[in-house]
Amino acid sequence: MMIATPGAGPPGRMPAARAHQFRGSLGRFATGVAIVTFDGVTKRHGITVNSFTSVSMDPPLVLVCIARTAKAHDELAGRPFAVNILGAEQRQLALHFAGRPGPEPLWVEGETAPRLSNVLAYFECKPWAAYDGGDHTLYIGEVADFNYRNGDALAYANSAFTTIPESQLGMEDLL
Ligand SMILES: Cc1cc2nc3c(=O)[nH]c(=O)nc-3n(C[C@H](O)[C@H](O)[C@H](O)COP(=O)(O)O)c2cc1C
Repeated sequence: MMIATPGAGPPGRMPAARAHQFRGSLGRFATGVAIVTFDGVTKRHGITVNSFTSVSMDPPLVLVCIARTAKAHDELAGRPFAVNILGAEQRQLALHFAGRPGPEPLWVEGETAPRLSNVLAYFECKPWAAYDGGDHTLYIGEVADFNYRNGDALAYANSAFTTIPESQLGMEDLL
């Protein structure tokens, strides 16, 4: 659903200044940081995302939105993938898979998809559905395996990385 704003069209047709404000407004929503990893036809892919969302408990489903322009976009269709949730000390990993490559990270050969070593949490997923999302595609995965470790979380807000201390996590044990 598109919410109309008087004097401004839908995002794709926004004037540059309005598009800048749109991005700024979206940036006020603080998120975690994740890397989607999977094996393509000829190579292993990884792409940093903050569009990760939990979708369903039964069946267990998660969602990531991948830009149509991303190299990983087409190959992800119909393929198993892993979502790697990053710890606070893993900013370099986030940059590595966002076009600023550093040393090759350590991989784990998961049962369903390749994933990264020592991340804060991971979800190995089988492909469930893909939906048109404008200049992105919404890829939904059915979670086949998952786990987490202790540690501070890497977060992203206002176009900057920040940290969510572990003391604020783990509330599920209290609920
Ligand atoms: C914190 C952060 C979050 C990002 N979130 C997304 C996202 O949700 N979806 C997406 O398609 N790209 C996202 N990106 C951009 C991709 O990571 C980046 O465009 C990627 O390097 C594209 O890969 P390519 O150059 O191999 O096509 C994000 C980048 C950063 C740094």
